[in-house]
Amino acid sequence: MVIGSGAREHALAWKIAQSPNVTELYVAPGNVGTAAIARNLNIRPNDIEALAKAAQDIGIDLTVVGPEAPLASGIVDHFEHLGIPIFGPTKAATRIESSKVFAKKLMQKYAIPCPKGVTFSNYAEGKKYLESQPVPIVVKADGLAAGKGVIVAGSRGEALKALSDILEAKIFGSAGDSVVIEECLTGREVSLLAFTDGKTVVPMVPACDYKRIFDNDQGPNTGGMGSYSPPGFFDAKLTQRVMETILKPAVRAMANEGIPYKGVLYAGLMIASDRPKVLEFNARFGDPETQAILPRLQTDLVDILLAVIDNRLGEATIKWTDDACVGVVMASAGYPGNYKTGFPITGLNNLDKDILVFHAGTKLGDNSQVYTDGGRVLTVTTTGKNMAEARAKVYQNLPHIHFDGCHYRKDIAAREVN
Ligand code: AMP
Ligand code: GLY
Repeated sequence: MVIGSGAREHALAWKIAQSPNVTELYVAPGNVGTAAIARNLNIRPNDIEALAKAAQDIGIDLTVVGPEAPLASGIVDHFEHLGIPIFGPTKAATRIESSKVFAKKLMQKYAIPCPKGVTFSNYAEGKKYLESQPVPIVVKADGLAAGKGVIVAGSRGEALKALSDILEAKIFGSAGDSVVIEECLTGREVSLLAFTDGKTVVPMVPACDYKRIFDNDQGPNTGGMGSYSPPGFFDAKLTQRVMETILKPAVRAMANEGIPYKGVLYAGLMIASDRPKVLEFNARFGDPETQAILPRLQTDLVDILLAVIDNRLGEATIKWTDDACVGVVMASAGYPGNYKTGFPITGLNNLDKDILVFHAGTKLGDNSQVYTDGGRVLTVTTTGKNMAEARAKVYQNLPHIHFDGCHYRKDIAAREVN
């Protein structure tokens, strides 16, 4: 059973469905894309008790959690307590994502490279500190804020406003009881995700994502408008460096703190002069990185997930293709602000064979017509023997898909081929 309803979860279900170990596959709640390869269960990702009951009633052998919210609410603890196998970190271990203060203190204590940062829960103290710091500067709400809790402030005024919005006006509620004020880094951003059973750490292939809505990184932040793998500059040596200085030390640090970490550990990195530093940890598969990473995975994903759960990741071999993969998100007009849904999507059957369409906000109407049902609607993905080929294929096929007001970025992976 896969928990979640986005394109990340469709990609997970797509890969899991290929496993010879799988006889039945469920997605809760899923979307139109997952319904074609699995059975959708009408249960919300935050309804942990209902998910556990469904897992018991159906006899689910393995559950994989997509989004962070159920992890942060303790879905893994609940399932483990009931003896239901589940892939992901416990509530305490998910703190590496759900509390930026926790993550920063962990990195500082164990000398894991990260931007200089100081924690505040008092506005006046935070203000005094801000006034002593250069700009730009970054203000981060401690808790989960649906991807909106990080403000990269270009001026002191903007930083002070963010501080006051979070600590005084409580725009993120209790997620803003404290903040981290952080040095602003420049460089290239890369996501390196790893599987870990708490002891062995195995990296996936690196990926880049695009957070802004418009080309050339203009406009507001979104849940992600596209991704690709691999970034050309991020070679095996850099992966090794991130493994030795960041991912392995983080997993060891968690064990040392008495909070064993199992699942996917996602390092959001800034790289300047070959020196990677951690902008954030996530406790799960990334979205949209997963849509560009899993098509490159040769190994049976179910074997990997079970090896993690059973603490035998050290025995697993994980293989990747040398292909390049590009995924472009098609979004509704107005996203990430207000948008309308319910528009028919055409052209889905009019694509080249090797185009993968991972659904996110989609819904089935009468006579099998697919309709838009969210801000991010589809991730259109393909692989190629190099980035230029993958990118050309995706962009040749995208115009075949249409819905009213559809928007996608034209520059995903462009920097890799120009
Ligand atoms: P996060 O939600 O932590 O991934 O932050 C969102 C985005 O803010 C990141 O993808 C970066 O582009 C940016 N960001 C976060 N922290 C920093 C930092 N210390 N310096 C520069 N940019 C940052
Ligand atoms: N791609 C960013 C995230 O999954 O949080």
